[in-house]
Amino acid sequence: MLKPVHRWIWRDAKRQVQTLLRFGETEIDGGRDILRAAEVTSDPLLRRLYLEHAIDELRHGVLFRQRAGTVLRELPQCLKPVWHADWLTPGGHGLDDFQVEPESDVGTLAFLHLSEKAAASRFIVYRDLMQHDPPTRAVFEEILRDERFHVKYTLTQLVRVSPERHRRYLWRARLSRLWKGYLRLASALAGAMSVLILTIQYFILLPPFAWLAKRAARREPPGWTAISPERNRSLKRQY
Ligand SMILES: [Fe+2]
Ligand SMILES: [Fe+2]
Repeated sequence: MLKPVHRWIWRDAKRQVQTLLRFGETEIDGGRDILRAAEVTSDPLLRRLYLEHAIDELRHGVLFRQRAGTVLRELPQCLKPVWHADWLTPGGHGLDDFQVEPESDVGTLAFLHLSEKAAASRFIVYRDLMQHDPPTRAVFEEILRDERFHVKYTLTQLVRVSPERHRRYLWRARLSRLWKGYLRLASALAGAMSVLILTIQYFILLPPFAWLAKRAARREPPGWTAISPERNRSLKRQY
């Protein structure tokens, strides 16, 4: 449904640079959180997989940044700020919401699985939109290969760690993602509404005050004004 919007975002080179840089940041931050998950887990296999996963995410971040750098260098003039809606092109994972749950590998795995799945489906959309830009398309293609592995291993490990209750954990993670998505949308809406209300206030409430201030200024006598003798005593103290 949002394909035309994505096309509009990715067609503009400046907007593309900013989006790629933001993606890079999300990937690297996500990698850091997965490293934390590797630290707290007591399962040796999961620790090894988390470490590999964290290295992958770091590499994705570097790939995005490198591509952003190349596009930036090819731009004819300096990068001026352009409007870009972050919430329309969410970074792959939504790993920014990731909170490592100590003692709960199942919770971490369920969250990771859904995040990786969301990332993979978004990156497919972005890759398909990049017909006009083969190098960026190749970056998405390369990252997608890893993301598919992340989707697969998180589910396999979730079923291994909790063969009976893994579905329940997946639903819990789904609801949590839904709630966070709602909060993100609500805060974006609140931001837009506050801009609208403040703009209306600016044009409706401020003009009468400006008019009153101008009228008061017109009534003021021009030049120096003599003050009363009791206020005009010699300066012996500060006040
Ligand atoms: Fe990634
Ligand atoms: Fe990933």
